[in-house]
Amino acid sequence: PPRVLSGIQPTADSFHLGNYLGAVRNWVAMQDDVDAFYCVVDLHAITAGHEPAELRRRTRVSAAQLLALGLDPERCTLFVQSQVPEHAQLAWVLSCITGFGEASRMVQFKDKSQKQGADRSSVGLFTYPILQAADILLYQADQVPVGEDQRQHLELTRDLAQRFNNTFGPAFTVPAPYIVKDTAKITDLQDPTAKMSKSSSSPAGIIDLLDEPARSAKKIRSAVTDAGREILFDTENKPGVSNLLTIYAALSGHTIDELLEQYDGKGYGDLKKDLAEVVTAFVTPIRERTRLYLDDPAQLDKMLAVGADKARAVAAQTLAQAYDRVGFLPPA
Ligand code: TYM
Repeated sequence: PPRVLSGIQPTADSFHLGNYLGAVRNWVAMQDDVDAFYCVVDLHAITAGHEPAELRRRTRVSAAQLLALGLDPERCTLFVQSQVPEHAQLAWVLSCITGFGEASRMVQFKDKSQKQGADRSSVGLFTYPILQAADILLYQADQVPVGEDQRQHLELTRDLAQRFNNTFGPAFTVPAPYIVKDTAKITDLQDPTAKMSKSSSSPAGIIDLLDEPARSAKKIRSAVTDAGREILFDTENKPGVSNLLTIYAALSGHTIDELLEQYDGKGYGDLKKDLAEVVTAFVTPIRERTRLYLDDPAQLDKMLAVGADKARAVAAQTLAQAYDRVGFLPPA
């Protein structure tokens, strides 16, 4: 079976609906058919300032949420990045074959460092995509399920894999992005041309999975819709309604066409009212299940330790091979 790796940052108290529909939903769907590795990337979460106790709590909340959303440790390897030291070790080697200009062209770095002020942003924020490449290459991943915003980082990963293989001899599988177009960019409910984002969306623009369901329902009902009154799927001219239809289709299992037929002759208000109910029905059990996993942190930590062991078995092999290719002495 193909090997799959993906990761998610524990940088907020909750994942948002974009994280789920753009990425985690596909992780869950793939776990039976592929050899899947999924990690909570806590090393990435310290690149822009953080509070230690909060990071520790959010890392557990992230793992609990992934379980609540349907990842099954019997069918995939779920682990925390910092518990597998090979990630940081390979990242160093890859950073030495990454061009400074090449790294400077990463759009997410440019956006984030601009927001923080160039002088205040860390070197870790700059090398962030190289660590991401290490995450992927360590597992010889064939496919990487992510949202649209990760495409450039995956191109860098492919370039680094090819460069390493050409320079030092074959060590890495060249991975392909796995981006499901329909849900690859869920947009902000208040600004439907921007992506829903934990760092830049306003509270009213983002659906946090662990939020009070009634609040999420209200956010859907007050989502910005477009000029006109007809319900059409047209991401150019009707980005607000199209985003709601995308979310509705993904959560209900209906196709967009079925929804268009169902809402023919109805108004935006009807669509929003019904979607608010669909979202409530989706988030309510997620919240409860997450809480149950968090009620037993010892059990959660044990599960993550098993995941880290399984991950290390693969990562150590790849790292040893890469170290050997680079010309390091055999382990002492
Ligand atoms: P992160 O933690 O920001 O987001 C996790 C996943 O959610 C997707 N996503 C979205 N998809 C659709 N619509 C949206 N509005 C939306 N917002 C976020 C992201 O594309 C991502 O798939 N750099 C990565 C984490 C990472 C990683 C990796 C991913 C570290 N190492 C290795 C894959 C492989 C990130 O910041 O994702």
